[in-house]
Amino acid sequence: MTAITLPSSSNVSAPPSETASDSPLLAVDELRVAYGRRVAVDAVSFSVHAGEIFGLLGPNGAGKTSTLSAIEGLIIPERGTIRVAGIDVQERPLDARANLGVQLQATSFQKDLTVTEIVRLYGGLYGIVLDADGARGVLAAIDLSACAGMKAGQLSGGQLQRLSLATATLHDPPLLLLDEPTTGLDPQSRRRFWSKIETMRDSGRAILLTTHSMEEAHAVCDRVSIIDRGRIIVTGPPQAIVDSNKDRPEVRAAARRPDVTLEDVFIGLTGAGAITT
Ligand SMILES: Nc1ncnc2c1ncn2[C@@H]1O[C@H](COP(=O)(O)OP(=O)(O)O)[C@@H](O)[C@H]1O
Ligand SMILES: [Mg+2]
Repeated sequence: MTAITLPSSSNVSAPPSETASDSPLLAVDELRVAYGRRVAVDAVSFSVHAGEIFGLLGPNGAGKTSTLSAIEGLIIPERGTIRVAGIDVQERPLDARANLGVQLQATSFQKDLTVTEIVRLYGGLYGIVLDADGARGVLAAIDLSACAGMKAGQLSGGQLQRLSLATATLHDPPLLLLDEPTTGLDPQSRRRFWSKIETMRDSGRAILLTTHSMEEAHAVCDRVSIIDRGRIIVTGPPQAIVDSNKDRPEVRAAARRPDVTLEDVFIGLTGAGAITT
């Protein structure tokens, strides 16, 4: 794909509230990730601030998980720098990781352990000893009190995702990375999950989530970068992206209803016939 040049008004790189002292909790600069000769992520730059839900939005294969893997230090980028809470991920990986809570694209818990046992087990991995009251508090915060004695194998998809959110945040990290956390959830479970991460955002955390749902990005993200075939094509608040692109002929042509959506903008700008899900 050739790079698309967008009007500068549509390429908002920082929230309006940003000040000089408001340094980002995550800064990704000119990231390039390759698997052999295959370039999966190229020239990707964005930043995420405290009190912000930032969405990396794109279809399957766009490079979302590869970007997160580089941030987590699981793969070494070919180019670029990544700073977590000001710490260079390649120079000081352990210090950087201590600031991260990570929810992987597929989390599997041992099916025979109870929810309480899992929370305590993960607490132990982070060096946090949870007594019965502590475990109860963790479960209450994610609406799983009623499931405390249930085995992981008995939980619904939404309950499992909330449990994995809890286990990713036991050490109270300032930056959360969530890889497609709501894929496969029913609408109610998805909304419940959104409200949990909004609460975390409102308590001052920075949250980076990936999604291929334009609707989700519009509903829950303060800002998004739309990524396609490894490159960011636009960054900004979802409504601002819609507003500044809705009159472009290629976006109009993609719109199925009078109100242009983020999905119409994506289809129009990428020339994609359909979004792969
Ligand atoms: N381990 C790997 N080896 C080779 N290619 C990979 C590997 N992981 C991902 N890719 C390729 O890199 C591209 C981006 O993948 P990924 O980051 O998983 O995208 P997304 O998470 O957006 O679906 C895809 O073309 C994928 O096939
Ligand atoms: Mg992925």
